[in-house]
Amino acid sequence: MAPSATHKNNNNGSVRLTAPGAKTATAKNGRSIVRQTPRILAHVVFRTTPANYKPMIQFYCNLLNAHVVHEDPVLAFLAYDDEHHRIAIICSPDAVPKPKDVTHAGLDHIAFTYPTLTALSHQYVYLKNCDTPILPLWCVNHGPTTSMYYRDLDGNKIELQVDNFDDPDEANDFMAGEKYDANPMGTDFDPDRWSEYILGKATADGQEGLSAKEIRDLKMRKEIGERKELPAGF
Ligand SMILES: [Fe+2]
Repeated sequence: MAPSATHKNNNNGSVRLTAPGAKTATAKNGRSIVRQTPRILAHVVFRTTPANYKPMIQFYCNLLNAHVVHEDPVLAFLAYDDEHHRIAIICSPDAVPKPKDVTHAGLDHIAFTYPTLTALSHQYVYLKNCDTPILPLWCVNHGPTTSMYYRDLDGNKIELQVDNFDDPDEANDFMAGEKYDANPMGTDFDPDRWSEYILGKATADGQEGLSAKEIRDLKMRKEIGERKELPAGF
């Protein structure tokens, strides 16, 4: 969410911003502070029950094509790229399972971006074919992204997505436009038909086989008019 207008003080009253979106701030002692953004979003940590500890590790290894870099009876660290860990799981005997029929305030979901529709299609089919199938609960073209939402064993939701616009400015324009205003939820799609079409075009070694026009057509959201409610149970 965008920062609000000028803040005189933050929660602890230690700095004062000079303007909305200001790059600098002034500390109480008068020192000029250059505001900093993080370099990356580093990792996500889940706390789970002993019963779900091993299944949660397996779930995230499958979901993200990750591997375990460390596991002991209390902590597991999973990596899938050059970061030492992206997911950690804490096994806690004190953890209380989330009630399934209650929507809690707090973190709703975490999203991971794949490079291409073909990559996401491969992952969808892989997950569906796991010994214990992992199936999405919602497949939707939001407009800015093509997204598949999954739920882990504890009920946490994870979004696997592909950006629909190559240029972030185009995505920003879409999200600021009338179509998104009328329908910020998106248009659902059938993941089986979608992935069948995409993988049917893939090259023999499984790489992207879609033409630029086919990619554009697939990513272009089909407009369905007004939609402002989340799906039931989401
Ligand atoms: Fe999201």
